[in-house]
Amino acid sequence: MDMNKTLNPALVDLLERARQAAQNSYSPYSGFRVGAALQLTDGEVVTGTNVENVSYGLTICAERSALVRAVSQYGPKIKIEAVAIANLNNSASPPCGACRQMLAEFILPSAPVVFPAASGVRTMAFSDVLPLAFDMKLK
Ligand code: THU
Repeated sequence: MDMNKTLNPALVDLLERARQAAQNSYSPYSGFRVGAALQLTDGEVVTGTNVENVSYGLTICAERSALVRAVSQYGPKIKIEAVAIANLNNSASPPCGACRQMLAEFILPSAPVVFPAASGVRTMAFSDVLPLAFDMKLK
């Protein structure tokens, strides 16, 4: 079943941008090619891909790669209203915990997160993807 049929056209386009970004993946160690696309509230779309490193732990995921690019290009006031994630490995890849916490800083709680799941493409609100994000209240 083509799960894309249940996605609205804007999210289908965002998912396609994520797939395109995955083509640029630098993943010689895992072979897992991931792309992410962030829809910003001002209409911009920013993409990222995973960039691995021989020291493994320095690897950056596609989602965080897109996020740091978005802030670098458009500044600290960006708001993310949708996220799409794709991989070229026909595998499930929900965003990892580190990426969820990083996205939490800039994303609307209601933002749809579209990602490859075992059952096909799945969409969840960000607040369901990360229900209890760390936050720091200084007083
Ligand atoms: N990866 C991502 O790009 N996003 C995730 O949310 C999880 C994992 C990448 C990191 C690494 O290059 C490869 O997938 C295998 O873990």
